[in-house]
Amino acid sequence: MTRKLRLGLIGTGIAARELYLPAFQRLNRRIEVVACANRTRSKAEAFAKLARVPKVVDTAEELLALPEVDAVVVSLPIDKQPELVLAALGAKKPVLSEKPLAPSLAAGEALLKATRRFKTPWLVGENYAFMPHVLKLREWLAANRLGEVRWVEAVQATNMNSKNRYFNTAWRHQAGFDGGFVADGGVHLANVVRSCFGLPKSVQSVTAHFNRKLPAPDTAVAALRFASGALGTWTSCFCVRYSGPMLRVYGSRANAELYYDEARLETQSGKQRVFQAPIDSFSAEFSHFADVVQKGKPLAFTPREALDDLRLIDSLLH
Ligand SMILES: NC(=O)c1ccc[n+]([C@@H]2O[C@H](COP(=O)([O-])OP(=O)(O)OC[C@H]3O[C@@H](n4cnc5c(N)ncnc54)[C@H](OP(=O)(O)O)[C@@H]3O)[C@@H](O)[C@H]2O)c1
Repeated sequence: MTRKLRLGLIGTGIAARELYLPAFQRLNRRIEVVACANRTRSKAEAFAKLARVPKVVDTAEELLALPEVDAVVVSLPIDKQPELVLAALGAKKPVLSEKPLAPSLAAGEALLKATRRFKTPWLVGENYAFMPHVLKLREWLAANRLGEVRWVEAVQATNMNSKNRYFNTAWRHQAGFDGGFVADGGVHLANVVRSCFGLPKSVQSVTAHFNRKLPAPDTAVAALRFASGALGTWTSCFCVRYSGPMLRVYGSRANAELYYDEARLETQSGKQRVFQAPIDSFSAEFSHFADVVQKGKPLAFTPREALDDLRLIDSLLH
């Protein structure tokens, strides 16, 4: 049996507590967090107590130097991540860094260039790529269940306000990265759209800033044309209530809808199939990362593809 992957965690904020910890607990035969570090040490100590992490260190550098750390997870404000990715790869520690891979397209391109010389694995945490129902949609598309895809409608909308935990993180209101929530959240949907249909050949976008309490822009609407000939629309809006699917795909044989926990297929004759995700995407993501590090499995998607996801977002913004 493969021994547990020993992780070091850099950044013990909301994502660490609320998204990773349940996955670490579910994967406790596969993964153990052996050390953590955070700018505010007391928060790292609180996380260590909650997650039974045996060691807290003061800095990322100290954590990267620990011989018992096999690989690291970087969960910091977006603009702080590239230097940590480089430091981890320089220390020959495989790294899972949070999305988007860089604070701007230019910074992402520079990071890709700077990491070219490293052979150590680097996975960008675009966890939608690990949603089983997203994989099911890709399977339906590959099996031509939808026929010729004609129209793709991508929507990411929510009312982002002070009741939302992410709204209240200081760094999301500073000018450290391009695109506000349109980039922060949108890169997930970009991963889904790109992985299903490729990067659009053309994007014509308009943006707006309706809610001055949100970073600009809070809304982007675009018309897309894909290489296959399919047309699409993209809507990001972080200042309205929305409860529909994140993706609708209309084909010559069938239509599909993608929600946050299920995929639906409906044929022209009205026959329906619903696929519900059997596992959460963070458990699937960490399990994949362990396979990459320990078994040499190829990355589900490469940093270059993560850069393309950022490229799609950039084309909505500019
Ligand atoms: N995949 C997903 O679905 C998902 C969801 C949410 C977030 N994320 C990603 O996870 C990362 C963290 O987001 P979060 O929501 O967890 O934010 P958060 O709660 O604010 O956590 C950010 C962490 O970074 C530290 N930090 C803040 N400013 C820093 C600075 N200037 N220098 C060094 N460290 C600093 C914070 O330390 P203090 O404790 O000292 O403030 C905190 O531990 C982001 O990259 C975000 O995009 C991903």
